[in-house]
Amino acid sequence: MEKGTSFGLYHLCVLLTMLMAICPCSHGNWMWLGVTSFGVPEKLGCSNLPLSSRQKEMCKKKPYLLSSIREGARLGIQECKNQFKHERWNCSISPNIYSSSPSFSLSFISSSLASANSVFGYELSSGTKETAFISAVTAAGLVHSLTRSCSTGNMTECSCDTSLQNGGSPSEGWHWGGCSDDLQYGMWFSRKFLDAPYKNSTLYESDVLSVMQLHNNEAGRQAVSKLMTVDCRCHGVSGSCAVKTCWKSMSSFEKIGSYLKDKYENSIQIADKIKRKVRRKEKNYRKVPIRKEDLIYTNKSPNYCVEDRKMGISGTHGRECNRTSEGPDSCNLLCCGRGYNTHVVRHVERCECKFVWCCYVRCRRCESMTDVHTCK
Ligand SMILES: *[C@@H]1O[C@H](CO)[C@@H](O)[C@H](O)[C@H]1NC(C)=O
Ligand SMILES: *[C@@H]1O[C@H](CO)[C@@H](O)[C@H](O)[C@H]1NC(C)=O
Ligand SMILES: *[C@@H]1O[C@H](CO)[C@@H](O)[C@H](O)[C@H]1NC(C)=O
Ligand SMILES: *[C@@H]1O[C@H](CO)[C@@H](O)[C@H](O)[C@H]1NC(C)=O
Repeated sequence: MEKGTSFGLYHLCVLLTMLMAICPCSHGNWMWLGVTSFGVPEKLGCSNLPLSSRQKEMCKKKPYLLSSIREGARLGIQECKNQFKHERWNCSISPNIYSSSPSFSLSFISSSLASANSVFGYELSSGTKETAFISAVTAAGLVHSLTRSCSTGNMTECSCDTSLQNGGSPSEGWHWGGCSDDLQYGMWFSRKFLDAPYKNSTLYESDVLSVMQLHNNEAGRQAVSKLMTVDCRCHGVSGSCAVKTCWKSMSSFEKIGSYLKDKYENSIQIADKIKRKVRRKEKNYRKVPIRKEDLIYTNKSPNYCVEDRKMGISGTHGRECNRTSEGPDSCNLLCCGRGYNTHVVRHVERCECKFVWCCYVRCRRCESMTDVHTCK
C-alpha cells in the first residue's frame, strides 16, 4: 500500500519527535537528543528532530516548548497504556526504539518501514481504531501539558484565561477569580505542530488516512475542551459561602483518557473514498452526522492474538489473564481461546504489625499463595 507507507512515515516523524523528546536519556544512545537535566534542550535538539524546516525554526525559537512536548507525549502514552492494559492490544511500545542505533535519523527511518512499525507496532499506519486512539490521546496530551505550562506562568505567550477577569454574576454571589486554564494557546500549538505535516501534503483531502489523522487529532483536542470543569471556592463567615470565587480547569488526564476510550469503543468506520467530506461506511447510517469529537477509522483491526513481527504485533502469548473476569482481560478473550498456564506465586509480606512500647513495631511474616494465569 504505497500511500499508507508514506503516510506512516509522516505519522512516525511526529511520534518520533515526541518520543525522542520524552526519552529518559538513561539509554546512552538517546543522549544526543539532548534534553538536559534542567529540561532545557541542547542546541542539537531541534536540528536533529525530524521536523519540517518551519517546525525546526519554531523549535529553535522556543526551545522551552520541548519540555511541554515531552510531557504531552508522556501523558498520552502513559494514558494509552493505562486505558488498554487489560486488552489484547495494550498500547505497548516496542523496546526496539530504545535500542536502535544512535544515528536514528529520518533517512534511517525512511530506509525501513519495518522499524517504523516497531515504534508503536502495526498501529502506526494501519488506519484502525487503535491508530485513531493514539492520534487523539497524543494531541490531547499536548494540549494538556502546554495549557498546564501556561497556567503555571512558565510561558511568555500564554497565561491564565484573562477574558474571564472581573466577570461572573455578583447577584448570584460568585465571580471569576484565580487562574482559569486557557486552552487557546495549547490548541493552537497542537494544531500547528501535529496537523501541519498532513495539511501541507499532497495527500491531504485525497488520502483517507490523512483525513482520518486530522480528524482524530482534533477529536483529542476537543475532548480536553469538552471536559473543562468549573471549580469554586467559598468565602464568607465560617463557610457561609456568601461569595464564591470560581475558575475553569481542565479535567485530569485520566478522565480525558477514559472519555477517549469510550470514543474509541464507539468509533465510526468511514468510507475509503472521501467525497467532499467524510462519510460513514455504513450506508444505512450516512444521515447520522459524524461529530468533531467522534473517532473515525478506515480499516478493521486485526485480532492482535498472535505475534506478527512484520506488522509489529506482539500477540498475547505470555500475557497475564484473569480467570474470573468477564471482560477483555478474561483468560478466554485475552488468550484467544488458546488456553492458559497457571503458576503459583508466593507472596511474603509483613503483617499483623503491632506497636511495642517503646519504641518499635513488631510484625509477623505472612505468606500467601496466589494463582497467576498466563496465556498459552
Ligand atoms: C517551568 O519550566 C522549567 C524549565 O522548562 C521547568 O523545570 C519547571 O518545572 C517549569 N515549572 C512549572 C511550574 O511548570
Ligand atoms: C509546504 O511545502 C512547501 C513545499 O514543500 C514548502 O515550501 C512550505 O514551506 C511548506 N509549508 C509549511 C506550512 O510547512
Ligand atoms: C503488553 O503486551 C506485551 C506483549 O504481549 C507484553 O510484553 C507487555 O508486558 C504488556 N504490557 C503490560 C503493561 O501489560
Ligand atoms: C479478576 O476479575 C475480577 C472480576 O472482574 C476482579 O474482581 C478481580 O479483582 C480480578 N483479579 C485481578 C488479579 O485483577
